[in-house]
Amino acid sequence: MSGHVCPWWGGYFIDNPLRRLIHPPRRILAPYVHSGMTVLDFGCGMGVFSIPMASLVGPTGRVIAVDLQQEMLRVLAKRARRAGVADRIRLYQCEADSLEVTDPVDFVLAFYSVHEVPNVRRLWADLFACLRPSGSLLWVEPIGHVPKRMFAEMLKSAEESGFRLRDRPRIRLSHSALLVKP
Ligand SMILES: C[S@@+](CC[C@H](N)C(=O)[O-])C[C@H]1O[C@@H](n2cnc3c(N)ncnc32)[C@H](O)[C@@H]1O
Repeated sequence: MSGHVCPWWGGYFIDNPLRRLIHPPRRILAPYVHSGMTVLDFGCGMGVFSIPMASLVGPTGRVIAVDLQQEMLRVLAKRARRAGVADRIRLYQCEADSLEVTDPVDFVLAFYSVHEVPNVRRLWADLFACLRPSGSLLWVEPIGHVPKRMFAEMLKSAEESGFRLRDRPRIRLSHSALLVKP
């Protein structure tokens, strides 16, 4: 089910003004991320979404930004300092097959990252364990890399791991699902 990992320098290609027009972070996140929440950005890259999430959760909230690659986290940290939200973001370098975050969270974003993970079932289990009851996961994959059938198979495995499908938000050039922990 998994593909190859986006190289760290690829982070610069997927974080640019055109991307922000196609995927406006605040518009995508505003229905789900609110003041005071603890949220997790899985496969955060250089922080296209983590930094706007930090402003949405406000000074009383927290963002846990998780990535496999140290270089992504290094650039994210620099950008977070520049944006004045570094104190709300906790960076976490994980292993390819283990999330290793156990803090309870209210919301998870997994944007263009799950298809790169070697063991998707394990990831669903880890994310399910982190989420508080009634917490939600917005999961988004690129239509260019992830065929419809593969997305459907991964969605089935998410449901088998305990998630319920709540919605299929429309996000440009993407398959997406809003999953909840009952
Ligand atoms: C295509 S980028 C997307 C980055 C960001 N979410 C965005 O939408 O701009 C995929 C990211 O997932 C990370 N990634 C891939 N496999 C991972 C894994 N097993 N655990 C954590 N992060 C992973 C990569 O290092 C990369 O930063």
